[in-house]
Amino acid sequence: MTGLSKPLAQMADDVLRTADGREKTALARRYAAEWVAARDAGRITSPLQDRSAVIGQATPPDFPARPEKPELKNPRDVPRRRPGSRPGQIALLHAVAHIELNAVDLHWDIIARFTDTPMPLGFYDDWVKAADEEAKHFNLVSDCLEALDSHYGALAAHAGMWRAAEDTASDILGRLAVVPMVLEARGLDVTPGMIDIFKKAGLTDTVAALEVIYAEEVGHVAYGSKWFHFLCGRHELDPKDTFHALVRQYFHGALKPPFNEEKRAEAGLPPDFYWPLADETPDRQRGTPG
Ligand SMILES: [Fe+2]
Ligand SMILES: [Fe+2]
Repeated sequence: MTGLSKPLAQMADDVLRTADGREKTALARRYAAEWVAARDAGRITSPLQDRSAVIGQATPPDFPARPEKPELKNPRDVPRRRPGSRPGQIALLHAVAHIELNAVDLHWDIIARFTDTPMPLGFYDDWVKAADEEAKHFNLVSDCLEALDSHYGALAAHAGMWRAAEDTASDILGRLAVVPMVLEARGLDVTPGMIDIFKKAGLTDTVAALEVIYAEEVGHVAYGSKWFHFLCGRHELDPKDTFHALVRQYFHGALKPPFNEEKRAEAGLPPDFYWPLADETPDRQRGTPG
């Protein structure tokens, strides 16, 4: 007996197919707690003990279920507002909530989509923890929006967020390179500036929420780097060269300095991974950042 109500990949699939934001995050947190309890109780000690019962298999949707609102638009059509104004602060928080909900789905998707690649249990522990934290982040930011008399869904949101997942749906190394090691690392670069905006606005609850997010996102980038290096080792690939090739292949945005070198280093992302890509950005830029 694993102590799980269903295999982990099926839990992941359930979360991906839940549309409402608060319902999605509640289910994500419940399933994460179930996994952690089973692991802590020593009921799951090897992904191979009974692979079909522990990890199982799923056919995750091409696009995760999402609520009817927010309306998804091309980012060029989402009006920009000054961050010094209250509407600007709400718009910024709304964009963060959208990123967090997308991140919940991204972390469950890596669990559900790549079950044909045998991975150590630590891989699942890490992404379950990351998915649980994203669910918490979405709830925290939604609470902040509601405290400002708004809510997730009140404004339009970026339509291209799932692009990175689609592009890397059949390549786990590409997924690790683009999602945690490019997109989530970008979060480390921009979050301190956001924290400053809300400090200036005197919104202390929002500052506290963003500080939780900032601290925990370092871990997500680190999980990406850890499992990227693990898989490169398995296939005898050079991690740096492989990272460069995969980002060039799959990522359609720009790697924009300034980089948060301190936090990137803490997350196991050395400068020679990202700087060479930043230098060549003008030639590669084909679309909008994911
Ligand atoms: Fe997050
Ligand atoms: Fe994250």
